[in-house]
Amino acid sequence: MYKIAVIPGDGTGPEVVREGVKALEAAAEAAGFDFQTTFFDYGGERYLRTGLTLTDEELEGLRSFDAIFLGAIGHPDVKPGILEQGILLKIRFGLDQYINLRPVKLYPGVDCPLKDKGPEDIDFVVVRENTEGLYAGTGGFLRKGTPDEVAVQESVNTRKGVERCIRFAFEYCRRRDRERKLTLCGKTNVLTYAWDLWERTFNEVAAEYPDIATDYAHVDAICMWFVKNPEWFDVVVTDNMFGDIITDLGAMIQGGMGIAAGGNINPEGVSMFEPIGGSAPKYTGKNVINPLAAICAVQMMLDHLGEKEAAERVERAVMRVCERDILSLSAGKMGKSTSEVGDLVVKYIREG
Ligand code: IPM
Ligand code: MN
Repeated sequence: MYKIAVIPGDGTGPEVVREGVKALEAAAEAAGFDFQTTFFDYGGERYLRTGLTLTDEELEGLRSFDAIFLGAIGHPDVKPGILEQGILLKIRFGLDQYINLRPVKLYPGVDCPLKDKGPEDIDFVVVRENTEGLYAGTGGFLRKGTPDEVAVQESVNTRKGVERCIRFAFEYCRRRDRERKLTLCGKTNVLTYAWDLWERTFNEVAAEYPDIATDYAHVDAICMWFVKNPEWFDVVVTDNMFGDIITDLGAMIQGGMGIAAGGNINPEGVSMFEPIGGSAPKYTGKNVINPLAAICAVQMMLDHLGEKEAAERVERAVMRVCERDILSLSAGKMGKSTSEVGDLVVKYIREG
């Protein structure tokens, strides 16, 4: 019996989470396992009502679950940063979810913005470091508010943090067993401290994985290659900030935010799965948002929990919906409502 914490969150979060939970129920029934969900109202509405983002006790409470399923965090009436830091990043850091795993896979039937590229060309995974770098939150102001103001935002890279991320990427690449190629994405030519550490660590760990081919790309260049030659990539490992940026680009080449999911992974602890798009306030409550990204997050969660058959059923169902049923992945242009897409996924999960 898996214990799943569900945080629907803000905007369209609750709508897509509802469909994700439907898919989870169907997959559990088909694959023969049990789970129990506990819902939490963390998010913008609660913050506006109570002034609370996520308390330390609430964070501790999340440790007793097998996994967390998150919808979206972000509210138009709350200053940017408060909910992101107070909820999303607090969970990522607090539960030491040191990997942000973001598959970039173009499914058949999905419109790709890249000319002459198809599903055979776009199938890679970005392993983003998830607890350090520019996200660490160190730095500060000097002479704030004066003409001589200084703002410093530091990138924190620890040997331990870098090494565990790189090791995860090598292991993941081996387990994935596709091209067995791992690309380090950095900026060794300018950020000569951080990327020196990354590169040295990468090369040292690589020596333990003779079966994995290695490569390196600067972050600016990788943006170019993702568009020009996405077929070159199998697994890409990078830091927190670069990973944030390149995975939005990745989401676009796999068809958009409507299908992009990610896992915040602590291999030794509690992991959290989420659609990577935001709370989409403008589509909220209209039953037009695409739930497939949230459903793909459920697929990743099942895979992480070791429920391979259930995960595969969910992925096949998503692929069928993409091929047969929806006109586009974009909100309002699917030709189906949010709940209709969820119903179709459920039907296909049951069919196998
Ligand atoms: C993401 C998001 C977050 C990030 C924000 C909402 C803090 O953009 O999950 O990629 O920057 O990591
Ligand atoms: Mn992002």
